[in-house]
Amino acid sequence: MKTLLIGKDGQVGWELQRALSPLGELVSLGRQQIDLTDIDAVRDCVRAHRPKVIVNAAAYTAVDKAETEPEQARLVNDHAVKTLAEEALRLESLFVHYSTDYVFDGNKTTAYQEDDETSPLSVYGRTKRDGENAIRKSGCKHLIFRTSWVYSVYGTNFPLAILRRALERDRIDVVSDSVGAPTSASLIADVTAHVLYRSVWDPALTKSAGGTYHLTASGETSWYEYAKFLVGQAEKKKIPLKVTSNMVFPVSADTYKTVAKRPKNSLLDNRKLCAQFGLVLPGWETHVERFVDELVWAKLL
Ligand SMILES: NC(=O)c1ccc[n+]([C@@H]2O[C@H](COP(=O)([O-])OP(=O)(O)OC[C@H]3O[C@@H](n4cnc5c(N)ncnc54)[C@H](OP(=O)(O)O)[C@@H]3O)[C@@H](O)[C@H]2O)c1
Repeated sequence: MKTLLIGKDGQVGWELQRALSPLGELVSLGRQQIDLTDIDAVRDCVRAHRPKVIVNAAAYTAVDKAETEPEQARLVNDHAVKTLAEEALRLESLFVHYSTDYVFDGNKTTAYQEDDETSPLSVYGRTKRDGENAIRKSGCKHLIFRTSWVYSVYGTNFPLAILRRALERDRIDVVSDSVGAPTSASLIADVTAHVLYRSVWDPALTKSAGGTYHLTASGETSWYEYAKFLVGQAEKKKIPLKVTSNMVFPVSADTYKTVAKRPKNSLLDNRKLCAQFGLVLPGWETHVERFVDELVWAKLL
């Protein structure tokens, strides 16, 4: 099985390089090798490699910047994705793609199901929603994994920012009225590999089970509780922080004005994925504890 991984240097892409490597031949490309704003180059690249599986972990993810660069975001998150889907159809390949809780407006009071109506609040969310729809419309075999609140040791993300602040500041204010499930890039990559492995042995499964799935850790938390948990874990490891977990304070999302609007409810119901592929997705705390351990062992904290 030849797999073409696009976006190898992102949080999820980095972990996919590891997780997909035992499945067969893996060609991993970053922005230097394939620029998703160059649609002709995207098409040529897929035709040159002729993969059986295309995994697209690249995306325009700068949510606020997308409001002032909508054309760039659209090229990467919608037009390039449409081209990849068309090429997957042409080669009869499987297209694996990632999407986001930002396709929803966050007004639902419970976790979102895969078939709930989308209603994005931002340019980023709209371009990701349109990318999803382009894949479905193309008719290619596909798996779309929607995820949320992604983090990894490598990257720019919320937990790294919180721990940096805890080393420098006297108090931390964190939004308490937005909920979600922090999901590690390694979990996303491992689940992707598991699903692809099942598909290699049972192609009929991909045929029947293709579609959209919510891939997040289990459980729920707010940004505030998440920050408190992170600081608490670092305290347990005797990291000399300026802030302790009782110096993390809740604030309303309305006190933080961001350029792009964000959903207050980012909860994605992951039961369909678990049932279809025989998986148990751990509670969000499991991988967050591990994340802090990794930072400590690598002396990054
Ligand atoms: N991060 C989150 O909290 C989150 C939440 C929900 C869903 N998701 C989705 O999960 C997927 C993976 O996200 P992530 O957190 O791994 O993102 P990330 O760390 O921002 O990585 C995105 C990758 O895409 C690459 N990229 C951007 N524009 C490109 C272009 N024009 N051509 C080629 N490559 C380009 C970036 O390259 P450079 O390294 O050169 O910039 C980067 O390596 C995405 O589909 C994202 O929408 C993420």
